[in-house]
Amino acid sequence: MIKKTVLSGVQPTGDLHLGNYLGAIKNFAKMQNENECLFCIVDLHAITVFQKSEELRNNTYEVTAAYLASGIDPKKSVIFNQSQVSGHAELAWVLNCVCRMGWLNRMTQFKEKSGKNSENVSSGLFTYPTLMAADILLYKATHVPVGSDQKQHLELTRDIAQKFNNDYESQDFFPLPEPYIEKEISRVMSLRDGTSKMSKSDISDYSRINLIDDKDTIIKKIKKSKTADTPVPSSIETISDMPEVNNLFNIFSGVTSMSKNEIISIYEGQNFSNFKNDLSDALIEKIAPIGIEIKKLMNDKKYLNQVLQEGKEKARKKSELVLKDVYDIVGFVK
Ligand code: AMP
Ligand code: TRP
Repeated sequence: MIKKTVLSGVQPTGDLHLGNYLGAIKNFAKMQNENECLFCIVDLHAITVFQKSEELRNNTYEVTAAYLASGIDPKKSVIFNQSQVSGHAELAWVLNCVCRMGWLNRMTQFKEKSGKNSENVSSGLFTYPTLMAADILLYKATHVPVGSDQKQHLELTRDIAQKFNNDYESQDFFPLPEPYIEKEISRVMSLRDGTSKMSKSDISDYSRINLIDDKDTIIKKIKKSKTADTPVPSSIETISDMPEVNNLFNIFSGVTSMSKNEIISIYEGQNFSNFKNDLSDALIEKIAPIGIEIKKLMNDKKYLNQVLQEGKEKARKKSELVLKDVYDIVGFVK
């Protein structure tokens, strides 16, 4: 069997939360045993929205620490910082010339992020998806574990890869990468509003569980999370019509190995307090140790730098081969 190449990235833009973990990072660690894996901290993406330099640096270390604390092993996977491998920016330029304006105009994440302010956001925010395509194609990655908000960007990556292959008559040069998305937990919602995504940028800290939240904070947040005035329902169908409850079920199932039906069979007909207590316990068991490890690693910058240095070397080596072929195909004189 051909080994898959897996690549994904997380932006160093603030505290990581349960959505990042369940939607993406948890799968990174799972995939590293059977595949060739590269996981980057995408600082070039982060600056599409202004970041204070000290915060960007600190957040870059924090994502590195979160990768390690979540079980990504630097001996099995390449962990690196995007700006330290210049091929990302170089390939992004070539792909900017392949990607069509009309394709970028359809990106819903740009519309959400720019809102009514679209004349005044950076042009980097608009071309962000071509940089993401470059991240993936620079390593000819075949599988990309992400949350469902990234699905459209993956489809665009496939379109760009296909157009490059066609335009330059280089059949199969870039593989068409597949998203790896786990359905139930690919979109973890806010604890306060089951119709909006759990996000770093929500002003209420009670909307999310951060990976660095301690035990008491997790208990408080779950206690305050929105549920219903009714007892715990007895069918999946009823739960699907209750966004906040459905979200808590998805989270419960995501941090334990129980299916939603198993969870229903334990709590149906009871009020939500037992359910919430047990959910807090499950989260504390899974998330609190990661938070403790992140804090510990943040005090060991020497080790974090060493991981990033080694990752940089490996990523550079691999990416240079592909970029050289791209430059050749495009017709740049060597
Ligand atoms: P970001 O923090 O935007 O760089 O996201 C890093 C990864 O986490 C991406 O794969 C996202 O799709 C994923 N992600 C972010 N928020 C959520 C969420 N609320 N639920 C599931 N996945 C998420
Ligand atoms: N756009 C992704 C996000 O906002 C982050 C990202 C950048 C990424 N490059 C990537 C994810 C390459 C997967 C593969 O979450």
